[in-house]
Amino acid sequence: MITYLTTIYLLLMIKDSPTYSKPPICIAHRGASAYAPEHTLAAYRLALDMKANFVEPDLQITKDGVLICMHDNTLERTTNVKKVFPHRSREVKGKPKWFISDFTLAEIKQLDAGSWFHKKFTGEKVPTLQEMIDVVKGQAGIIPETKSPESYAQSGYSMEKLLMEVLAKNGLDKKGAAPKSPVVIQSFSLTSLQKFKNELNCNLPQMLLMGKDDGDKLQPANLKKLQLDIQCVGLHKALVQEHPERVKACHEAGLTVTIYTCRSANTEPFPDVKSEMKYFLDKGVDAIFTDNPDQFPRPGK
Ligand code: G3P
Ligand code: CA
Repeated sequence: MITYLTTIYLLLMIKDSPTYSKPPICIAHRGASAYAPEHTLAAYRLALDMKANFVEPDLQITKDGVLICMHDNTLERTTNVKKVFPHRSREVKGKPKWFISDFTLAEIKQLDAGSWFHKKFTGEKVPTLQEMIDVVKGQAGIIPETKSPESYAQSGYSMEKLLMEVLAKNGLDKKGAAPKSPVVIQSFSLTSLQKFKNELNCNLPQMLLMGKDDGDKLQPANLKKLQLDIQCVGLHKALVQEHPERVKACHEAGLTVTIYTCRSANTEPFPDVKSEMKYFLDKGVDAIFTDNPDQFPRPGK
């Protein structure tokens, strides 16, 4: 009888999950980025082949106001910009930096975003958010992250408005509008997330990201306040490893828990990335950002 009631309770919890329809959820972090260059269409396609439930694009804005998918706000780590535009850097703390905001989309499309990772990916381009959606829509959820929104606002661009425009163009701007491609918006900036609801009339689920030193933000009183604005927290995995009871506290405050990032490149103290993800799922997290979607523990595997 108790087992029966527990099952009913769990089913109700799943149905009522404020963020995901059927947890646990595998989120391909920057695509299947352990195996293909991050934020390329190759990495996104591989994530779909590996049955990721969601694919993550980090967002930046070009000089001419187009949303592109890239983690850094500069181009030198993941493209050959130094070779193609050797004289277009700015010096920051004595180091040359090629800022995305200094380049038009047409210029960025001249760059190779694959060969830094492996020569077999030579020719991969930096995708726009629209190109990412064209690949993923209908096959997985999309979880865009607003990166440096405040700094782009200083240049006159609202990342939040641009994102909603692209989502609307693709019929993805309302909760439940595209059941095969639900959208969850994530950011480290609560101010950015608040804009979606308060200024842009957006009802999509929102995830506030927290770094490993943000444990104070998980105090019960703060969680209750956060729940007014957001539906999910995206926690650095150390926050759960140090205090697994935080998962229950978030759930009790009505917040779904996602952790970042499980990757084969660094699994300490776990022997491999699959064991690491299993540990966190056993602690009750609802979703995991991973570079290795193929290693996500699924029922029966
Ligand atoms: O968005 C979750 C996780 O990706 C946050 O870290 O730096 O990889 O964007 P980062
Ligand atoms: Ca991210």
